[in-house]
Amino acid sequence: MKKIAILTPGGDAPGMNACIRAVVRRSISSGMEVYGVMNGYQGLLDNNIFKMELRSVSGIINHGGTILKSSRCAEIKTDEGLSKAIATLKKYEIDYLVVIGGDGSIKAAEKISKFGISVIGIPASIDNDVYGTEETIGFDTAIDTAIEAVDKIRDTATSFDRVFIIEVMGREHGFLALEIGLASGAEFVFIPEFKFDLNKICEELKKDQQKKKTSVIMVFAEGCGDSRELAKKIFQCTGIDVKVSNLGYIQRGGNPSARSRNLASRFGSSAVDLILKDEKNKVVVLQECGIKAIPIEKVTSSEKNVSKDTLELIKKLAV
Ligand code: F6P
Repeated sequence: MKKIAILTPGGDAPGMNACIRAVVRRSISSGMEVYGVMNGYQGLLDNNIFKMELRSVSGIINHGGTILKSSRCAEIKTDEGLSKAIATLKKYEIDYLVVIGGDGSIKAAEKISKFGISVIGIPASIDNDVYGTEETIGFDTAIDTAIEAVDKIRDTATSFDRVFIIEVMGREHGFLALEIGLASGAEFVFIPEFKFDLNKICEELKKDQQKKKTSVIMVFAEGCGDSRELAKKIFQCTGIDVKVSNLGYIQRGGNPSARSRNLASRFGSSAVDLILKDEKNKVVVLQECGIKAIPIEKVTSSEKNVSKDTLELIKKLAV
């Protein structure tokens, strides 16, 4: 009988619970034993691991966060931490480790795979920055959550003829900011992948005012630096008082959208199919509307790039 362990390290993403449910239910129904690891990789270091049953995952498909909890575990990046994690996995005679998380978590999983434990990665992150997959679990929900907030801010922007900078998450990538910008009809989107020219922005803002386009939404990805600093600089150059609103952690929470839940269920089930076929060290991904599996080394050694098309479309529509 195969034994699998499952964990959800790093930033929680809405839909992680739906994915845990799918992995647990499919693997137990296929005759495997499943262990839940608490607090991400930290649980492997602390021996915080428990046997899961079909009913352990009842009533969780609609909940954000993760029932297995999470943490940022710096120790797993050290040789000592890695050996402790391997020792726990060996103690429980785990054949497969299923890691539901972002790029950092998948990198740690790859290291574990070098010690003879087979791993399967499932991309889950609101940042959508995992190479090889068009979408990660939680991304769609985070966009919906953010645009609900941006729509509300737009009411004040319109009523007061104000310019707003709205800071969103995404770490050093702009995938989230771009989709939020497009969906909310933002006039400007700033992402770390493409440099922007402050003078040009100020000129465009002045022109907007002449065109009677007096309320403006600027979506600012956190990886671009300090949004308050940008607001100050725009004020110095144009005299326009720019308001700043940081959406923060609300983007990570809340009930998962139908799309995030269904992607999570499909990813989880496909991960179990891979285990049943004895496939090792793979990451399940969404490509051209289908679920595929690619080698974990491909995911960890490649960088996912944003396309300039979305940024250009946002500009074309903000005339
Ligand atoms: O990776 C998800 C994410 O929410 C990023 O967008 C953000 O930069 C980071 O996690 C915040 O991490 P923490 O929860 O450790 O503050």
